[in-house]
Amino acid sequence: MAKQDKKEKFYLTTPIYYPSGKWHLGHCYTTVYGDAIARFKRMEGYDVYYLTGTDEHGQKIEKRATEAGTTPKAFVDGLVEEIKKLWQELDVSYTKFIRTTDKDHVAAVQKIFKRLYDKGDIYKSKYKGKYCTPCEAFWTESQLHDGKCPDCGREVQDAEEESYFFRLGKYAPRIRKLLTETDFLRPESRINEMVNNFIDAGLEDLAVSRTSFTWGVPVEFDPGHIVYVWIDALSNYITALGYDGENFSADTAKYWPADLHLMAKEIVRFHTIIWPAILMALDLPLPKHVVAHGWLLFGGDKMSKSKGNVVDPFVLSARYGKDALRYYLLRAMPFGADGAYTGETFLTRINADLCNDLGNLVRRTGKMNVQYFGGTVTRGKAGKEDGAMTAQIDALYGEVAAEMNDYKPQRALEKIFDLIGAANKYIDCTQPWVLSKTGDTERLREVLYVLDEAIRVAGTLLLPFIPETAGKILGSLGLQCPERNGNLRFGGVKEYHVREIDALFPRLNVEKELEELEKLAQANAPKEKKSENETKADKAKENKTLGNKQSNAPCCEDKNMETENEREYITIDDFCKVQLRVAEVLACEKVEKADKLLKLTLKVGEETRTVVSGIAKHYTPEEMVGKRVVLVANLKPRVMRGIESCGMILCASQGDKLVLVTPEAAIDSGAEVC
Ligand code: MSP
Repeated sequence: MAKQDKKEKFYLTTPIYYPSGKWHLGHCYTTVYGDAIARFKRMEGYDVYYLTGTDEHGQKIEKRATEAGTTPKAFVDGLVEEIKKLWQELDVSYTKFIRTTDKDHVAAVQKIFKRLYDKGDIYKSKYKGKYCTPCEAFWTESQLHDGKCPDCGREVQDAEEESYFFRLGKYAPRIRKLLTETDFLRPESRINEMVNNFIDAGLEDLAVSRTSFTWGVPVEFDPGHIVYVWIDALSNYITALGYDGENFSADTAKYWPADLHLMAKEIVRFHTIIWPAILMALDLPLPKHVVAHGWLLFGGDKMSKSKGNVVDPFVLSARYGKDALRYYLLRAMPFGADGAYTGETFLTRINADLCNDLGNLVRRTGKMNVQYFGGTVTRGKAGKEDGAMTAQIDALYGEVAAEMNDYKPQRALEKIFDLIGAANKYIDCTQPWVLSKTGDTERLREVLYVLDEAIRVAGTLLLPFIPETAGKILGSLGLQCPERNGNLRFGGVKEYHVREIDALFPRLNVEKELEELEKLAQANAPKEKKSENETKADKAKENKTLGNKQSNAPCCEDKNMETENEREYITIDDFCKVQLRVAEVLACEKVEKADKLLKLTLKVGEETRTVVSGIAKHYTPEEMVGKRVVLVANLKPRVMRGIESCGMILCASQGDKLVLVTPEAAIDSGAEVC
């Protein structure tokens, strides 16, 4: 419930962004999500400190600046201004914007590093691994694919580099406990991922300095070394509160530990393994919660993929309004899961929820208030339709608070829109226009009062999500935006002075808007496309792999995600074009001079055909005979090593592992896989 008397602190952080200059809608997600929570907590009476900022060091920035013919600092300065504008555009109410180039942050990171070194938790050693020169990336043996660079597929060389290491392994048991015995990390699926893939796989010490570039925080006592970007970046959560390696600032010390670190799923490992270990080494209290959301994926309509700007938040916000964008984002993803952006879902949601449900309710009700009572409405005579409605109004705050305190804005919005939907139905069944005709003024007044109350409670609870619109809604009821939640029970306001307002959200012609967005996309599409190899090499270079000896998880930046984001969806019709059939392997032999290929003779119903498959490293010809496999039956035939291959058999692969996909129970060859 509301913290009315004593202000409890709530320290919330979202990731600090790479100033890459390509802000897309996905980038806005964490920060808007954080903003909704920050606003809600403030409304509940908490003393909220909401931190965001920029993560400005590293090789990638250094390289981009050089390409742009400028210094890294000048390069990031421009981009930081842009991201600040974006947060302003989206009404993000952060308390502090930290930059990792801030002088006090840099000095504090140096002190933190020195402190860990003095304590013996950081030591100097040699990094040994495999090095991919074009990608400038180090890999461990187990990360290689077929002995080659997992990013670009090229040969790697043995390499050694002097580096400082953090004794991450030493903290493994405490981190395991933290993850498995507390509610530190959510959703739960992420716990298993961290424990199984990283901790139980063996936590190796972490390389925490680099010598191959200079744009970063120099190790104070060994200036040829630059502090690993993730140590630099994660430290922002404490340096923002004035932590200098010893103490916090007197006025902000109270905010540590963080109550919530919010982020997308690919950077959970840094926040739940490396970050707690650093804090343990610094003898600082640990953050209370880490919540990882999914990714907003882009694809599935013609506006996606490499056309970038249609999902440029500046473009969408300018055209449809900041609240449309905030609302879309906050409803886009169920807790922990991914969501998919398409222009159509975006526009449809604005029309259905904001224009139809919310907009119509406010407009219709406002109009009737003015028409029937000159805008002044008080209590009247209760009716049989009221009980359910007033109960729903009464319950809403509790329901929304429960969801928001569980960090589920999507669910909270669902609850609010349930009430909005119910209020629209209430209008339909009470039929105020009939009451006005029959002269039942008392009943009519009560109906409008109930509706005003529904709009007030919903509008107040919408403030954290769509602040500008919620302000307009409350204004239409003659109310100010409350700083706190106030009285959100039915009957909380006794008298309304309502005025009509313009439509909150204009109705969009989805077809036409899709065309407009397509035009914008065309106008802003990148002119040249890099070759696949160039792109892969670029991505790999950005991958600060040296930072971790043992993991092949996406270690930094959003590059892995962009691959995901640009995923092209197919329709069911596209899928139906693929004919999948069960096939029985009648015969199998090795293909001469091809150590990876097997030639299979398959029975597919009545038909027999030959397929060449690259599975020789995983299955012997003997093992294959008699197996039932899944065949892509209508794949264009292709000649491989002089053999015409008529189809492809399906396998599942994971790292070096490859297994056949087979029917789960006996079924005739030729059976359709659907
Ligand atoms: N600099 C690091 C964070 C360091 S925190 C100590 C970083 N920056 S980022 O710019 O790549 O990403 C910022 C945030 O945006 C991250 O939480 C990232 O996961 C999130 N997202 C980027 N693209 C996204 C989507 N498509 N969908 C949802 N979130 C996305 O990571």
